Amino acid sequence: MREVTATVLENVRIAEGVYSLTFAAEELPVNAGQFCMVGVNGFPLRRPIAICKSEGERYTVCYRVQGAGTKRLSQTYKPGEALSVLLPLGNGFSLEEGQRRVAVVGGGVGVFPLVAAIRQFAEEKQIYAYMGFRSRSSVCMEYDLRRGEKLVLATDDGSVGYHGTAVQAFMEDIEKVQPDAVLACGPTPMLRALKSATEGRGIPVYASLEERMGCGVGACLVCVCEKKDGTHARVCKDGPVFELGEVKL
Ligand SMILES: Cc1cc2nc3c(=O)[nH]c(=O)nc-3n(C[C@H](O)[C@H](O)[C@H](O)COP(=O)(O)OP(=O)(O)OC[C@H]3O[C@@H](n4cnc5c(N)ncnc54)[C@H](O)[C@@H]3O)c2cc1C
Ligand code: FES
Repeated sequence: MREVTATVLENVRIAEGVYSLTFAAEELPVNAGQFCMVGVNGFPLRRPIAICKSEGERYTVCYRVQGAGTKRLSQTYKPGEALSVLLPLGNGFSLEEGQRRVAVVGGGVGVFPLVAAIRQFAEEKQIYAYMGFRSRSSVCMEYDLRRGEKLVLATDDGSVGYHGTAVQAFMEDIEKVQPDAVLACGPTPMLRALKSATEGRGIPVYASLEERMGCGVGACLVCVCEKKDGTHARVCKDGPVFELGEVKL
């Protein structure tokens, strides 16, 4: 992990309330699902954001304007500006050799780390992606999401693709796809729904959890989650990817 002063290359709106920020920084190895902590002027705490793409010294993150920090990030960081970033953080997704048919299920800002997972695994695995958005106007990153065998877009209002959630769309396909593993990211209710829908099927689900974070590097314990065996884990350092069956949601 490094603390770097990056240079903003691009910070543009790509969907309703969603921005894509590309910055240049020292080249570092990044595993899909790892994230960075982005410093925003005027805010003591950095914001955790998944790394969507890393190509040499170019990194891209996508973020939804949620509160004051991401609003300022979208409004004041123009090309050429300096950006303080900690990266790469967390463990990221990994798949075993025999896990060849892989379903990727995401919703909301959980789509963004999964863009990285699809980019990383699409060449050697068969990827079936189910991605949930609020409506047509919030759909983004479609080009990257289409790198696998199949992409199903799901929208809450049915304005594009499947009318319903990504989990519902996936469960309608599960018998056909017969996945060896599932990669997932999204809000806790979505992960709960996925957990109960897949329980008892013997399919490992590796999910990236979203917890409020302070330091992002394992020191403050703000992000602690409870594991099924009664122990605790830091989402920033021990995760953010956990086998879904191991954690209490
Ligand atoms: C590992 C990880 C990866 C993430 N990746 C992305 C991504 O790729 N794209 C994206 O749009 N969002 C992502 N998020 C969520 C993102 O961190 C929050 O939306 C963001 O921090 C909100 O900041 P804010 O100042 O706009 O909101 P505020 O609500 O004003 O933030 C107040 C404080 O709460 C924290 N906070 C608020 N919401 C969250 C949240 N959901 N998760 C963690 N901390 C939060 C903020 O960091 C800040 O410290 C990720 C979160 C985690 C934990
Ligand atoms: S955010 Fe500080 S320990 Fe995880």
